[in-house]
Amino acid sequence: MSTNRTFTMIKPDAVANGHIGNILNDINTAGFKIIGLKYMKLSKEQAHAFYAVHSERGFFNDLVSFMSSGPIVAAILEKDNAVEDFRKLIGATNPAEAAEGTIRKKYAKSIDANAVHGSDSDENAQIEGNFFFSQFERF
Ligand code: RTP
Ligand code: MG
Repeated sequence: MSTNRTFTMIKPDAVANGHIGNILNDINTAGFKIIGLKYMKLSKEQAHAFYAVHSERGFFNDLVSFMSSGPIVAAILEKDNAVEDFRKLIGATNPAEAAEGTIRKKYAKSIDANAVHGSDSDENAQIEGNFFFSQFERF
């Protein structure tokens, strides 16, 4: 069942480069409502757990180091068809291949430091939202 919600993080590169405001504005302008919002720094253990699905991949250690290297912004977003529409808004994983106007095209510099995370399914959106937010922190 589609929940019409997705989960995102503004990654350490985009936070460090001063893009929090621009990215949240792009998200709102694209019709997403912010249901939960949090500014925090992930520990290595938390980043490891969040991306555990990629633990066998060659880039896993770099991914965990990067995601725990500085503060991030975590958010739950709501919109019809949220997961798919948000993936379209952020663009391809590699910003060099991301479409014009997408968040990764505008704010990301490399496949490793690619500005934002977006859930890839309704099921993962729910799991990832629960990872960051209690029932009292989402509206
Ligand atoms: P994300 O989960 O962060 O939204 O990114 P994604 O779905 O577009 O890509 P995914 O396949 O889930 O990979 C997670 C993150 O790992 C890094 N990655 N590096 N060097 C590589 O081939 C490679 N592939 C993936 C990226 O930073 C990606 O966002
Ligand atoms: Mg992914």
